[in-house]
Amino acid sequence: NKVVLAYSGGLDTSVIVRWLQDTYKCEVVTFTADIGQGEEVEPARAKAKALGVQEIYIDDLREEYVRDFVYPMFRANAIYEGEYLLGTSIARPLIAKRLIEIANETGADAISHGATGKGNDQVRFELGAYSLKPGIKVIAPWREWDLTSRETLMAYCAERNIPVDFAGKKKKSPYSMDANLLHISYEGGNLEDPFWEPEEDMWRWSVSPEAAPDTPTYIEIGYENGDPVTLNGEALSPATMLATLNKIGGDNGIGRLDLVENRYVGMKSRGCYETPGGTIMLRAHRAIESITLDREAAHLKDELMPRYAKLIYNGYWFSPERRMLQSAIDESQGFVNGVVRLKLYKGNVVVVGRKSDNSLFDEKIATFEDDAGAYNQKDAEGFIKLNALRLRIAANKGRSQL
Ligand code: ARG
Ligand code: SIN
Repeated sequence: NKVVLAYSGGLDTSVIVRWLQDTYKCEVVTFTADIGQGEEVEPARAKAKALGVQEIYIDDLREEYVRDFVYPMFRANAIYEGEYLLGTSIARPLIAKRLIEIANETGADAISHGATGKGNDQVRFELGAYSLKPGIKVIAPWREWDLTSRETLMAYCAERNIPVDFAGKKKKSPYSMDANLLHISYEGGNLEDPFWEPEEDMWRWSVSPEAAPDTPTYIEIGYENGDPVTLNGEALSPATMLATLNKIGGDNGIGRLDLVENRYVGMKSRGCYETPGGTIMLRAHRAIESITLDREAAHLKDELMPRYAKLIYNGYWFSPERRMLQSAIDESQGFVNGVVRLKLYKGNVVVVGRKSDNSLFDEKIATFEDDAGAYNQKDAEGFIKLNALRLRIAANKGRSQL
């Protein structure tokens, strides 16, 4: 009899408010979050009121989002299918968590969202919700109603007096977009032809590498326990750090991706993404790890990473396996402290320096000059011979590949 809806204030979720009221005769509680999508959230209040909503939640979740979701994920250097930085995937568990918290506060027995029945988002919202509140009821209008075309949706609006300019005054984009502090995504429209190149003005967060400045921008990111904490020596909160890196990265043409990915539900999907700050953070984190992590710890992290990325993509943030992997990853980050110097230039992020008080880099040992006995080159002879032993035995037994 009461349902909490993840409400953007846009046309689709406004229709959902009315549809829930009509179809389920229930009271709708709306929840709108600022997770850095770059749109005002406050207007959602008046819109929800106009639809007869009495309990309206509007939260600024930007710091929590970056601190508790984005940063932990970046400690793992997570990338899905070699390319995707998981910008939408990692925001969904936070929305799911707030939906459940609000359901508990308001005594609602159901939650609802505006994701379609074809995508990953429905899975992420609902896996999150069920794992936090097993008895919750989920209503996914897109899987139930017959308002499947723009026309039927408009007709529904006309019938119920839902102002269509809820979609906003801006010209409607031909793409399905999703944005938060980590990225903005574009899907659908002409992108459904994987051979079609998007027009330049689709991209909203970055200039093209061609149009980026001819002089490079240098920055220094300071790390503590694997998290970026300072930019050019100045301490920044997680959300401010990411927002600032997005701006600097976008100005230098950094972070554009155009890819085809495998959705959890089984289909391939073409998407374009802009992740300027995330692209910088990934390179910088790997650079600080390169001097502070033990080799085998680093390699083990790299082996676990695809598992971790897939589990986040598929919506298993609130799962025992994610917690297990997270604690292993976090355990590895205690010495990941120091400073990385980067050069940003026409779409490239180039690491030009790294330093740390916890560095394992030993100049005395690594030097090509005289190491004054720090490393005994004779030790390498036995090391190689023993490692070659099984190869020599096999070759002696006629298995030489020559
Ligand atoms: N394909 C990406 C993902 O699954 C982005 C999804 C975008 N979501 C959206 N509602 N437009 O993470
Ligand atoms: C949707 O279907 O709602 C967006 C795409 C996705 O979730 O993968």
